[in-house]
Amino acid sequence: MKTVIEPFRIKMVEPIKLTTRQQREELIRKAHYNPFMLRAEDVIIDLLTDSGTSAMSSDAWGAMMRGDESYAGARSWYCFRDTVKDIFGFEQVIPTHQGRAAERILFSVMVKPDSIVPNNTHFDTTRANIEFVGGTPVDLTCVEADDLDSDFPFKGNMNIAALEQLVAEHGPERIPVIMVTVTNNSGGGQPVSMANIREISRVARTAGIPFYIDACRFAENAWFINQREPGYENTPAIDIAREMFSYADGCTMSAKKDAFSNIGGFLCTNDAALAHKERNILILTEGFPTYGGLAGRDLEAIAVGLREILHEDYLDYRLFSTRYVVDHLLDAGIPVMAPAGGHAVYLDARRFLPHIDPLQYPGQSLAVELYLEAGIRTVEIGTVMFGSDPHSDEEQPARLDLLRLAIPRRVYTQSHMDYVLEAIGLVWDRRADIRGMKIVKAPKFLRHFTAQFDFV
Ligand code: F0G
Repeated sequence: MKTVIEPFRIKMVEPIKLTTRQQREELIRKAHYNPFMLRAEDVIIDLLTDSGTSAMSSDAWGAMMRGDESYAGARSWYCFRDTVKDIFGFEQVIPTHQGRAAERILFSVMVKPDSIVPNNTHFDTTRANIEFVGGTPVDLTCVEADDLDSDFPFKGNMNIAALEQLVAEHGPERIPVIMVTVTNNSGGGQPVSMANIREISRVARTAGIPFYIDACRFAENAWFINQREPGYENTPAIDIAREMFSYADGCTMSAKKDAFSNIGGFLCTNDAALAHKERNILILTEGFPTYGGLAGRDLEAIAVGLREILHEDYLDYRLFSTRYVVDHLLDAGIPVMAPAGGHAVYLDARRFLPHIDPLQYPGQSLAVELYLEAGIRTVEIGTVMFGSDPHSDEEQPARLDLLRLAIPRRVYTQSHMDYVLEAIGLVWDRRADIRGMKIVKAPKFLRHFTAQFDFV
């Protein structure tokens, strides 16, 4: 059969409240044209994030009922720890309430005020947690990533020459850790190849610098390697994942992505002395080392989710369903990042709305128009998010103005995606009439979450 189906049946449903365009005009005006300020129930299709929004399976819900809520040494903890060890292979496992808590603990132990931390692209919270302890995050994305149309299969790769140069310049004294994010979320959900991971590991080991993987979407990355990297076409997803982590010294993980969980995360390392320091911080702010900010039932759900995410029929469907949207957009001539990434579709707002100056936020206009057209919630990844400098009043256009449509796991069906495609097509047809936006009010830091907008 050629048709790729959702490899699950729906057993429990959550009704979607349908709204009219007239109602949405009022709702988005009251939200000051910022989709973050909408009530979720006023959204028809919510593509704001794939984080914590997944649908759990009947197995995961069943496991939650078995959650052992003992404070110390709960059965659920051992189940969680053994699953993480089996897939990720690290000796020390530290549970956290979500990914950024793992980052905060890692960087507060490893990073010093003059430290430099390279990554393919730091996610916002990773960047912020490094800066919080005085370090400098550096993004070293491969050159192929700059061309939105190129069909290079691993646009998430790190630029190895740039990494080698950075290491030669500053050395292990100033670089306490090298990270790579799989898939590269801020770089379009694009995968990193096994060859690239191996090369990063080689550079790190030669210099004696620990190498960590930001593993949020590790299963999607593993399956891209299976589909796109010669030599891996017959390798099972779990073996690819194990090989990826075998080159690293540790990882940070948000279980809200590739573990189907609504909350949770963990930090792993092979360094027992480091783990000892990390657990001391864990106890202070997250919880005892056998639950770390999570309920026993969450640990159970994550253990089930980590196994399910590696089912290959799920991964086939997952990558196919994102590609389905991207391919239809490409066929219609609508500017979108290609090839398709794993968890999200990125519209190129600057090319979609070329008459809108980047400083009038074409990505934000497009987000507002998609909500008005069809009640779809998305997020601008462009000048609103990156254009301000907290230390000056000057604004700069971001490198790109994108609109991210993140696809929650196992939540929406193909007809929901057809609805999204129709809405994008309708907005595309009337694009010449779409106006830019201005910021009416905004905080200094992370302004995209709460900024208030109006049309220019
Ligand atoms: N690293 C990456 C690559 C992420 O995408 C995220 C979260 C985190 C770390 C932090 O994890 O949310 O559990 O604390 N990304 C979400 C998103 C929020 O919408 O892309 P967290």
